[in-house]
Amino acid sequence: MRKLYIAILFLVVISGTFGCKGPKNGDTDAAIERRVDSVLKLMTLEEKIGQLTLFTSDYDVTGPTMRENYKEDIKAGKVGAIFNAYGVDYVRELQRMAVEETRLGIPLIFGYDVIHGHRTIFPISLGESASWDTAMVRKAARIAAIEATAEGLQWTFAPMVDIARDPRWGRISEGAGEDVFLGQCMAVARVKGFQGNRLDDPRTMVACAKHYAAYGAAQAGRDYHTVDISERTLREVYLPPFKAAVDAGVGTFMTSFNEIAGVPSTGNRYLLTDILRKEWGFQGFVVTDYTSINEMVAHGFAKDEKEAGELAINAGVDMDMQGAVYYNYLKKSIEEGKVSMATVDEAVRRVLRMKFKLGLFDNPYLYCNKQREQNEIMTTEHLAFARDMARKSIVLLKNEAQILPLSKEIKSLAVIGPLADNRRELIGSWSAAGDWSKAVTILEGIYGAVSPATKILYARGCNINDDTVSFISDAVNKARQAEVVILVVGEAHWMSGEAACRSELGLPGVQQQLADAVIATGKPVVTVLLSGRPLTIPQLAQKTRALLAAWFPGTMAGHAVADVLFGEYNPSAKLPVTFPRSVGQIPIYYNMKNTGRPMDPNNKYTSKYLDVPNDPLFPFGYGLSYTTFEYSDLQLSAEKINASDTLYVKVKVKNTGKYSGEETVQLYVRDLVGSVTRPVKELKGFYKVFLQPGEEKQVTFKLTANDLAFYDIHMKFTSEPGDFIVFVGGDSQHCLQKGFVLE
Ligand code: GLC
Repeated sequence: MRKLYIAILFLVVISGTFGCKGPKNGDTDAAIERRVDSVLKLMTLEEKIGQLTLFTSDYDVTGPTMRENYKEDIKAGKVGAIFNAYGVDYVRELQRMAVEETRLGIPLIFGYDVIHGHRTIFPISLGESASWDTAMVRKAARIAAIEATAEGLQWTFAPMVDIARDPRWGRISEGAGEDVFLGQCMAVARVKGFQGNRLDDPRTMVACAKHYAAYGAAQAGRDYHTVDISERTLREVYLPPFKAAVDAGVGTFMTSFNEIAGVPSTGNRYLLTDILRKEWGFQGFVVTDYTSINEMVAHGFAKDEKEAGELAINAGVDMDMQGAVYYNYLKKSIEEGKVSMATVDEAVRRVLRMKFKLGLFDNPYLYCNKQREQNEIMTTEHLAFARDMARKSIVLLKNEAQILPLSKEIKSLAVIGPLADNRRELIGSWSAAGDWSKAVTILEGIYGAVSPATKILYARGCNINDDTVSFISDAVNKARQAEVVILVVGEAHWMSGEAACRSELGLPGVQQQLADAVIATGKPVVTVLLSGRPLTIPQLAQKTRALLAAWFPGTMAGHAVADVLFGEYNPSAKLPVTFPRSVGQIPIYYNMKNTGRPMDPNNKYTSKYLDVPNDPLFPFGYGLSYTTFEYSDLQLSAEKINASDTLYVKVKVKNTGKYSGEETVQLYVRDLVGSVTRPVKELKGFYKVFLQPGEEKQVTFKLTANDLAFYDIHMKFTSEPGDFIVFVGGDSQHCLQKGFVLE
């Protein structure tokens, strides 16, 4: 029997009717549809359900449950995709089981969380986003895809495009921060980087926009917690990066764990079908997050897993990640008429279509190339790029009296802190197949940068996260002997990412005590902060001479940090997320509403706290350079525009310092009056400009009525006539501004 089907499959391949030929140049979607339907016709119900089932292998653990006999499931044709498995030999063996030991030989898709690099690890996504350099971010994803596909993978569960305005939420580390416009730009860059021009190119992989939707709006910044936001906030803040991913051609979506206003995303037909498919025209397939179908029972949205499965597939979920709900109950749900065969067939078509597009039917071992695995991973070029990406992600937040850059000929340095000679933390969370043992420590980077004559004194000073204070004294002694102290403090990698939320955001353990003791020596201190999120460090920020937010910089961390410390690279990054002064201010983000009583320090009865200033420690878009940039001559092409006009916004930017450097010129807009209240600012454009000392350039932005559109009082997406202000500057607070009217 099996031989018969394989023969049919083989013949049909040859004939090319549904022939598993991957889409060749010019292959029409119609050709793929014919082939998909031909395979579908051969499939039993069990085999169809198998295509909708995704299991983890035991190579990595990314969730609360594992699957013992996934290999038996593969051989039984009960699995369509495997995740957390990589390496040519291992992937080839699992793929062989599917292709040679099942009745129809339908190939598997192999997925993994390739978030910010595969083996060569780049800065965490929040750090990459701090570069505001979409070309660099796209290239990082491109390299990640080259390395991941060299190890047998063809599907990444990235980009994470969740807007995050609450740094208590550990997953703020995985995205592009608090802003919609920047989030849209980074979503497009990452999708295009991973997917390249053709999915059947063995060096590209299908991306996955996650976690759909509004996962970052979890109450109290607690992971998996309830989300209760207005339709307007959903559509104006949390959905746009997902829509941008669809417009960029993303091939898959992942549902989020959370509910939105009482409906879990994994069972939300409005999200998964009405918006994603009917409004946006998404053609790919939707996978759940890890057992998120099963979790609808705990949500209290389904009485049991069988009902949860019915809710999920009828809402628009195609593939069940690790939950085995479709695997266990979908056949019965169909027999009971709770789920139609048409619904199942449509879900199977979406999965098969992707497998054709990836070239897997044409050659199931397309991604199993030993030569590539040996030659295309952690290459010199990839590592050089990782160093450059990391340098461009480091934000200079303070540089008192221009203490930085330090001279490489400095006589003595004390390098102090629990993260100074630490290797593991540098590649952050979600570092996939990254090998942290290959990361360059900050201390190694500093040794590699300074002259041999420089005396370097190292002291750990304390641990990252405990109350041991016994070796702070050693650090103080070393500090006293040095010209300058480089203090390297921050979080462990596991303190951000999934299921890693913090209720306090200061330096963990006794690191603040260490910092205070070292600063108390009176020696100038330069602080390098490693973290997966903004930290509330007002005292440290006030006392340190210089402060670098380096996030988790990845494999080449040490060299990248040293390049900035010693002036090999003039820092150009800007914050993608607000740094609060205290947890009590959260949520605090730049584009808040004005309220009816905007903060006025001279008026008691206005919106403010008694015990902390209303402004953030560092605002969105903020970042210094070793040089200075002066903005002047802001000009608008008109004082009035109508709905069909384009407004040209011009500004001059001059390098008024002594270093060449790159500035990210930011354009914000405020709609002063609307049929609903509008934010005090919204980022609508940015432009990176490199200037030599003394050089001046004019930067031009274009604005149209569509850039000013929002969901009005009737939830219609439109712009409204009225007064607007344009702001242009180097961060969200310090801007030139001019008004104009939309007629
Ligand atoms: C995790 C994460 C998700 C990841 C998936 C597979 O629970 O929420 O981001 O892609 O499981 O590892």
